[in-house]
Parts: sequence; C-alpha cells; structure tokens
Amino acid sequence: MPQNPAAPVVRPRRLRSTPAMRRLVGETTLEARQLVLPVFVADGIDAPRDITSLPGVVQHTVDSIRREALAAAEAGLGGIMLFGVPRDEDKDARGSCGVAPDGILNRALAAVREEVGDDLVVMADTCLDEFTDHGHCGVIGTGARGEVVVDNDATLTAYNELAVAQAAAGAHVVGPSGMMDGQIASIRAALDGQGHHDVAVLAYSAKYASAFYGPFREAVGSSLQGDRKTYQQDPGNLRESSREVRLDLDEGADMVMVKPAMSYLDVLRQTAEISDVPVAAYQVSGEYAMISAAAERGWIDHDPAVMESLLSIRRAGADIVLTYWALLAAKLLAEGR
Ligand code: PBG
Repeated sequence: MPQNPAAPVVRPRRLRSTPAMRRLVGETTLEARQLVLPVFVADGIDAPRDITSLPGVVQHTVDSIRREALAAAEAGLGGIMLFGVPRDEDKDARGSCGVAPDGILNRALAAVREEVGDDLVVMADTCLDEFTDHGHCGVIGTGARGEVVVDNDATLTAYNELAVAQAAAGAHVVGPSGMMDGQIASIRAALDGQGHHDVAVLAYSAKYASAFYGPFREAVGSSLQGDRKTYQQDPGNLRESSREVRLDLDEGADMVMVKPAMSYLDVLRQTAEISDVPVAAYQVSGEYAMISAAAERGWIDHDPAVMESLLSIRRAGADIVLTYWALLAAKLLAEGR
C-alpha cells in the first residue's frame, strides 16, 4: 500500500489505544472522599417522603437521616450537608426555629453527629430561607419605596446565632449560603467567641441567582415569593465572583464554593486559580433533575452522564463536589465504572 505523504507523524490516539493506557494517562480523579451528600430532614413526618421534582431524593425523618449518614460514612463519602424543613407553622419572620436547639435541623445534626462521630464530616446549611415565613435568606425590612429589602447587617446577627447553634448541635462545618456581605468574618468571630475554634466555615462565595434551584425549593417547601437577585450574583458576571471569593478568603473562609456547578465551570476554574483553600462546587437540584428526566425518557444514559458531569466539575477545578448522586457515584466508583 502506498504511504499517504500527508500521514500524521503526531498521533494522540496512541494514548487512547487500550483501557490500561487510558487509565495510565487519565488526568482527573474522582473519589468517594471528594463527594458530599446534601440531605433534607423534615419535621412532623413519620416516614421519609418523596420529592417529586428530585426523583430518588427524599425528605428524611430524624431516624432515617441517621441511617443515611451511616450509609454515607460506610460508602467512604467525604461529608454530608444537612438542610432543615420545618413545619409551616414553625416558620416566622426571623427564622427562629433554625436557632432553637429543638428545631428540626439542630436535632438532626445532633443525631447524625452521634451516629457518625468523626468518621464523616457533618455540615450544616447556615441560612434563614428554610426557616422564614417569607422565604428570604435574611431578615427583611421595608425600603424607601415600600419594597421588601433584605437587611444585610441584621441578617449577620441572625447568622451568628444560627452558626453557633449548629456548632453546639454537632456540626463540623457551617455553610453560610445567603450571600450577605461580611457573613464569613461575622460567623467566624461568633464561633470563636463561643469557643468553637474547630468548627470550619465553608463559604458559598460565588452563588448565582439561578433557575437551576427550582426543584430544591420544592424539596425545602420554600415560602419565597419573588427572587434573590439583590443578594445572589448575576449569572453573567465572572469578575464579580473573583471579588466575592477574595473577600471570603480575607474574612477567614476555610473552604470556598461555587454554585451551581455545570453552568459555571468557568467560575470554578477561576476560583481554583485564585484560592489557597479547598474549592467546592455544588451540583444543584436543577442539574440533577435535568439528567434524571432525560434518562427517564430514555434520551440519555443515566450512569455515564452522571459520572461525566462529576468528572467535568472536578476537571474545572473543584476539590470537593456536593451532589445528590454522591452515594450512587461512590457505588459506581467501587464497581470500577
Ligand atoms: C439557599 C439555598 C439554595 C440551595 C441551597 N441552599 C438556593 C436558593 O433557594 O436560592 C439550592 C440547592 C439546590 O438547588 O440543590 N439557602
């Protein structure tokens, strides 16, 4: 056969020729220890309850969340992030049931910590939206034209109490997700003031006002009317996120997070480049729902799509990934898939 004079000399395909070769040259790792499972615990239910918009995810009882935490530890996950779902009648304007030691989230934190000890990192969502009757992430007031405004500095005081209550309940990590200015410094000082020097702060540093939170709002029974655009970031802004990340690092964040993940991989890459602490990414409810729905219709192959999505988030720069698929991914990894 005559040689094609234009035959390539450089052949990248050599490194893709066998599974062993591909394994050897693989650049990005995905391990169970890098995954954090977000979970919901609801008050006033006596059995786990399905969440329609998140097939396979449930609202837990305090008992069932203990078992879930144990399963997470046994699967070798890195951590578990708890969200509380109080009864509607327990919600008020200041979100008091988030602070109360017998509030649903604090009871669940105590139960989970008792169950797993230090074998799994126990994290708490440190935000008011699940606990307020208006559904905003902060304390609200009325602006000059009669509009609803979220009062930044009044909210900081509320976050301090929330974080201290969660630390007292047993959280190893608190995760302020409300995007208030100064929240990291404020919470750090409050924790230290109560002797909780060992409790770490995972800062939701670059959190965008995203349509991909839709299913989560059903999961937590959100009371929100309107939107969060006065505190969460504009989806078109990248430079602004580097400012947010730098501020949180200066304020003492132990870890920083980008959220959502898949539509914000450039933000994640930028954050990984400027951060000198571990970087997390939150694969949010809408991302889960999209792949689940497409797979349910037979339009996409579920497990490979899940693993590819997680790998892409790691490749973009996340050290840690919060995902509702954490247990599934750990199982697939253990099977070598
Ligand atoms: C707010 C909060 C949100 C999520 C977690 N905590 C978003 C919001 O309601 O604005 C979203 C998580 C998800 O969509 O999976 N404290």
